Amino acid sequence: MATIFDDYGVRFAGSRALWERARTLIPGGVNHDVRHIDPFPLYMDHAQGCRKWDVEGHEFIDLCTGHGSLILGHGHPAVLKALHEATDKHTHPSAPTPAEVRWAELIVAMVPCAELVRFPMSGTEATLLAMRLARAHTGRDIVVKIRNHFHGWHDYAMIEYLAPHEIPSSAGVPKTAAPAVRAVPLNDLAAMEAALAPQDVAAVILEADGPAAGCVPTPPGYLQSLRELTSRTGTILIFDEVITGFRLAPGGAQEYFGVTPDLATYAKAVCGGVPGAAVAGRAEIMGDLTMHPDDPEYNRKKRVRHQGTFSANPVTAAAGAAALELLQDRTVQDHAAAMAERLRTGINTAIREAGVGGCLYGIRSAARLILGDDLPQTADREEFLRTVPPRRLLESIKQPLLKALQCAQLLEGIDFLGGTHGWTSAAMTEADMDEAVRRWARALHRVVAEGHLAGKTKVVAAG
Ligand SMILES: Cc1ncc(COP(=O)(O)O)c(C=O)c1O
Repeated sequence: MATIFDDYGVRFAGSRALWERARTLIPGGVNHDVRHIDPFPLYMDHAQGCRKWDVEGHEFIDLCTGHGSLILGHGHPAVLKALHEATDKHTHPSAPTPAEVRWAELIVAMVPCAELVRFPMSGTEATLLAMRLARAHTGRDIVVKIRNHFHGWHDYAMIEYLAPHEIPSSAGVPKTAAPAVRAVPLNDLAAMEAALAPQDVAAVILEADGPAAGCVPTPPGYLQSLRELTSRTGTILIFDEVITGFRLAPGGAQEYFGVTPDLATYAKAVCGGVPGAAVAGRAEIMGDLTMHPDDPEYNRKKRVRHQGTFSANPVTAAAGAAALELLQDRTVQDHAAAMAERLRTGINTAIREAGVGGCLYGIRSAARLILGDDLPQTADREEFLRTVPPRRLLESIKQPLLKALQCAQLLEGIDFLGGTHGWTSAAMTEADMDEAVRRWARALHRVVAEGHLAGKTKVVAAG
């Protein structure tokens, strides 16, 4: 009997050949660590709506959704039109364009904290800039982050992201980075209060929906208390809304949770699925980026410097503005959330019927998958999340199960980012979600049948 891995190697031979070439040219053969797949990643050819096709024509329901950036789905006509019109005109006029003004207007109209906006080029750059703004504005050096929260790959973001927390989450981070960051444990308000007490903290930065894109849900009241603590200590509160921005609600996590930070960082949905980012916030803080033509002393010593060859490039600005026009009234966000709920319900039924431990959970249009023989078998998502400790939620699916499940999912034509993280979009229908559940259930049963996970084996017809 051929195994999952035998079938994977045969079915995706074209991708394997590309990967063999790539890994002699590109370290590990991939350009984003999350795209690493064991034994090899699949190379895609094109995508439309909620589907994508690999180089050999295999079709997938795409829950990766552009790492969460494509809330309108692949190839939305309004975004494509904006992109075509923009690229026909120019890609880089080395000057501001009307598109960035419209893009900024939409952000200021939609986001509660946004009085001024600046456009860097990635979420990593956005959190770096927000931290710099906070330090400049407060005259304090320390940034508090919450353990396991993800803010991109720059040196400060690599402190206390992954366990063991005594060492940075990447080799090559200088020893000087760690003292600039004070990390506190997840959801621990007493520790946060102690960290802010010396009044030497420029900012607290966090993913408002919880670490690693909502793997551990934020407890009710936590954000409100954090707002109160940061205000009391003169600390700037930064929501990293790279994923939640314009996705949870038109105004992102701050609208959804009803807590307004001082600054917020964006990438992904804000750009309509093309590269780019934004930092938005209170005018008093954002204004530290403003040049004062008559005050060279201020410009050199007090102003926050930000450059970036492709910052606010007109192609991204046009796509971003076109996307935000469609995200203003919550229809898209509500539809995506309804699709995610259908997916969660369907997959959790499949998990229960297979008699395995695990859950698909997440808020609004997010879908987080966790499976394992050590996990409870319960139909009640709330109870599951109450029972399983945060540390285990963060581990999602451990190896070697993850490898088998990810390959089985891809063989059945369904793709979760890293095998575990999914987002829904406006392009998904109830029929798509039901099909996704059927495909996923087949993948689960194969994983169980091949002994990677305990559960009830069931012969599932292919196709
Ligand atoms: C919450 C959060 N912050 C920052 C980033 C980094 O964004 P980018 O990959 O655009 O650098 C990400 C990326 O997934 C993210 O999820």
